[in-house]
Amino acid sequence: GAPVEVDISKLEPGQMMTVEWRGKPVWIINRTKDMLETLTKLNDAVADPKSDKEQQPAYAKNQTRSVKPEIMVAVGICTHLGCSPSQKFKKGAEEGMGAEWLGGFLCPCHGSTFDFAGRVYKSKPAPTNLEVPPHVYLTDTRILIG
Ligand code: FES
Repeated sequence: GAPVEVDISKLEPGQMMTVEWRGKPVWIINRTKDMLETLTKLNDAVADPKSDKEQQPAYAKNQTRSVKPEIMVAVGICTHLGCSPSQKFKKGAEEGMGAEWLGGFLCPCHGSTFDFAGRVYKSKPAPTNLEVPPHVYLTDTRILIG
């Protein structure tokens, strides 16, 4: 499949957009400072905080799993059996999650949960963090995926 060029100039902090690449949904999230702060708090709760244990681009092997701290780019397909995780961006009970929920994604199929960096929580069925597709910044607001 051809690479896909994406304009993120209209993506506000806290928003997510979905584009298609190779028939897969790719999520682009403009993370707020608050969303980024949750990642530090969750390092002990997630299975592979810096994606050390898996095949990922080098720029995904850190806490934010991204080239730029605020912008997350990830394939929106659960790494367990391929369902589509849903957005659970609000905290705790507001999302019908436990009080300790800091926001992220929930896979409806078998309950895997992921944080705002697509990192899977410990003891969930998904074996790895969400895939970060190869991508580069053409400008500050244009990303080439693939
Ligand atoms: Fe997502 Fe099973 S497919 S938890």
